[in-house]
Amino acid sequence: MKNPVDIAVTGAAGQISYSLLFRLASGELLGADQPINLHLLEITPALPALDGVVMELHDCAYPLLHRVTVTDNAKQAFNNVDFAFLLGARPRGPGMERKDLLQCNAEIFAVQGKALNEVASRNVKVLITGNPANTNTLIAIRNAPDLSGENFAAMTMLDHNRSIAQLAEKSGVQTTEIKNVIIWGNHSSTQYPDIHHAKIKGQDALSLVDNDWFVNYFIPTVQQRGANVIKARGLSSAASAANAAIKQMRAWALGTEEGDWVSMGVVSDGSYGIEKGLVYSYPITSMDGKVSIVQGLKINQFSKERMKLTETELKEERDAIKHLL
Ligand code: NAD
Ligand code: LMR
Repeated sequence: MKNPVDIAVTGAAGQISYSLLFRLASGELLGADQPINLHLLEITPALPALDGVVMELHDCAYPLLHRVTVTDNAKQAFNNVDFAFLLGARPRGPGMERKDLLQCNAEIFAVQGKALNEVASRNVKVLITGNPANTNTLIAIRNAPDLSGENFAAMTMLDHNRSIAQLAEKSGVQTTEIKNVIIWGNHSSTQYPDIHHAKIKGQDALSLVDNDWFVNYFIPTVQQRGANVIKARGLSSAASAANAAIKQMRAWALGTEEGDWVSMGVVSDGSYGIEKGLVYSYPITSMDGKVSIVQGLKINQFSKERMKLTETELKEERDAIKHLL
């Protein structure tokens, strides 16, 4: 049996975590031969509720789940962890944009960035889901100077999956037949879901669906999906968010599929003319735990304008929390 891998989850008594923890413990992240230890972080008032979640985890008698620790102390939670899922943050309610959460959530990522910097494994993979995810990732990175920006990513995989699902439904194929969709930019309503490079059963997507559907239905549907889930459920997406978190972290750790990529918010190196240092969602391939931004894609004027628009919003968010960088 392999040695257990240490995985931290913050916001562990919250709704995304309630889907995520059971999937992690059943081996969906790293496989059925990889035991894990879970390090669960919550704020003090939520610890009693978290105790109930831990009872349920134990009651599943998962063979891969070795140790579960519960704490309200970030340094204890992140000690030597190989993976960290940063879910702990306030979700938005109806009528809010994700950036409205910046003032209440930003500080969390400054504190947790510092704690990761001090105690996490130097190879830790930190996936930030708490909103606004891209700018929270930037804050965590800047507060963790001894780790690399490559240790961190913002979650845009849910938007990526939403794009795949819309395209599969429109074209009447299984989701596995859709490849190479892209989410550019911010996990917000300015994100640009792009299908110019997407394939449906190996054929160019835009030769199979009409441009009007792409511009006037597909783009706004993906951009507004989070808000529409909130409108319908009264709560933000949770099971689909947990699913995306596993898929993004798994692709990062174990590699992307040949001929396909995922979308991930990573530190811009200036690729596609985006300002260096912003946490921007790009098409990403991963091999041996290292991610690379897909290079050389042809970008038309329509796409350039949308990629700039979401970049501008990220600059505004960054400027609003300058004191934490
Ligand atoms: P939730 O309110 O159900 O759970 C959040 C939990 O975080 C709560 O239990 C809370 O006590 C805890 N928490 C708050 N501050 C904390 C801290 N400093 N340390 C540790 N835990 C802390 O919310 P949720 O539905 O699970 O969503 C969590 C976050 O994820 C929200 O910000 C939401 O907007 C975001 N989200 C992002 C995506 C994405 O695609 N990036 C998708 C869905 C949700
Ligand atoms: C989502 O995309 O579902 C999440 O970011 C939650 C939200 O606020 O929309």
